[in-house]
Amino acid sequence: MSPSEPASAKIAAQYKNWVYPQPVEDLEQFVASGARIRGEPSGLWPKYWPHRRKRQPLDILIAGCGTVQAAYFAYHNRDCRFVGIDLSAESLERQAFLVRKHGLDNLVLLEKNILDVAELGRDFDLIVSTGVLHHMGDPDAGLRALAGCLRPEGVLDLMVYGKGLRVGVYMLQEAFRLLGLDQSPQSVEMVKAVIGALPTHHTANTYINSTKDMKFDAGIVDSFLNPVDRAYSVPEIYAFCENNGLAFMAWQEGFRYSLAARFAADHPIQRLAETLDARTEAHVCDLLTQSQGTHSFVAARPDYVARIRFDIDTADWTATIPVRHPSFVGPTAEGNALAFAREGHRFFTPAEMGRILALIDGQRTLADIETRAVADGIVGANAAHKIVHAAIAPMIAYGHVFALF
Ligand SMILES: C[S@@+](CC[C@H](N)C(=O)[O-])C[C@H]1O[C@@H](n2cnc3c(N)ncnc32)[C@H](O)[C@@H]1O
Repeated sequence: MSPSEPASAKIAAQYKNWVYPQPVEDLEQFVASGARIRGEPSGLWPKYWPHRRKRQPLDILIAGCGTVQAAYFAYHNRDCRFVGIDLSAESLERQAFLVRKHGLDNLVLLEKNILDVAELGRDFDLIVSTGVLHHMGDPDAGLRALAGCLRPEGVLDLMVYGKGLRVGVYMLQEAFRLLGLDQSPQSVEMVKAVIGALPTHHTANTYINSTKDMKFDAGIVDSFLNPVDRAYSVPEIYAFCENNGLAFMAWQEGFRYSLAARFAADHPIQRLAETLDARTEAHVCDLLTQSQGTHSFVAARPDYVARIRFDIDTADWTATIPVRHPSFVGPTAEGNALAFAREGHRFFTPAEMGRILALIDGQRTLADIETRAVADGIVGANAAHKIVHAAIAPMIAYGHVFALF
C-alpha cells in the first residue's frame, strides 16, 4: 500500500533507506546482553488496568513498529496477539526475520499507514506508538485514527518528542536544511563533521551527549535530517489527547514531572508546588529542568480515565494493593538511609520509610502494610497511617509503584 499523504511519502523514503532503530539479529542474545526496550507491556499491566486482577490475553497494536519493537514485545508476551504496522517494508522485513527465527506466531506484520489503520477492521486493548506520531504531517489525524480502534477499556501508550531538550536539535536541522543537505551518506558525513566542531556552549550538545542515536548513521539521519519532525510541550501533550477524543491518563516516568522529585525536600519551591495542579506542575518542571527530549505517557477514553483515577486519600486501603514497577530496585543500605532507584531516579529514604516500601510485595493491601509496619516495630500504631501514606503516596505519583484497586 502506498503512503496516503505527502509527509508519509517523505517519511517512508527515509525509513526505507535508513531503517531505525538498529536491527537485532537474535532476541535471546539481545535480552542476554542486558538490552531492554522500554514499555514492554507485561510489567505495565497494573498501570493500564488497575482494576483487573487477572492477566488476560490481549490484542495489541504496535503502530510504527520499526525494526524490533513488535517482535520484542511478542517474544515477551506469548499469550497476547500482536499486530505491527509500519510504512517501511524494509523495517518490517527485519522483524519478519525475528518472527521466523523465534517462531513468533502471535505477531502479524503489515505494511500500512497509521492513517489507514481502520482498514484492519480490528480493535485493540493496547496500542503502542513510540516515536512515530511526531513524524506525521498531521499527528492529530494519526492519533484520531488510532483512537478509533481502541476498545472501551483500551489504552494508548505513546512517546512523542519533548521540546525542552530538542531546542538545539531544531537549530541544527534548520541550518542543515539551509545548507542544502539531504539524506545522502555525504550529508551524513557533513552532519558528523559539523557536530564535531560545534562550540561546547551550543545547546544541541545536551541532546547529543544524552542520545544513543549518534552511534549509527540511521540515528543521525533520524535526529538531524528528518524532514517531518515536531515536538511537544506539556500543555501540548494534554491538548493532543483532549483534541482527539482522548484523556491524558499518566506519565510513564511521573518523577520527571514532579517538583518534589526534582528539587530538594527543603527547597523553597516546594511551598509553591503545593499550589499547582498536576498538569501545571508538570509543565513548570519541564520548563525548569529542560531535560525531556521525549514524553512517554498513557492516554485512554475520557470515561475510562475518570473511572480508574486513583486518590490514596479517599481510596479503600483494605482493597488497594500497591505493586512495584518492574524496574524499581531497592532497598540497598546507604549508612542510616535506604536507597531505591528507577530509570535514573535514585533517591534515599529514612530507614523507617524504606522498610515500609520494602513491605510492598504485590500481595499486601495498604491496610496490610500498615498493620505489618506496626507489628514489625517500624512505626507506632498512632503514626502508622500517616507514615505509610507519606512513604507510598509519592511512589505512586512518581510511577515507581502502581495501585491496584
Ligand atoms: C523512529 S522509528 C520508531 C520505531 C519503533 N516504534 C521503535 O520505537 O523502535 C519511526 C517508525 O514509524 C514509522 N512510521 C512513521 N510514520 C508512519 C505512519 N504514518 N504509519 C506507519 N508507520 C509510520 C516509520 O516508518 C518508522 O519505522
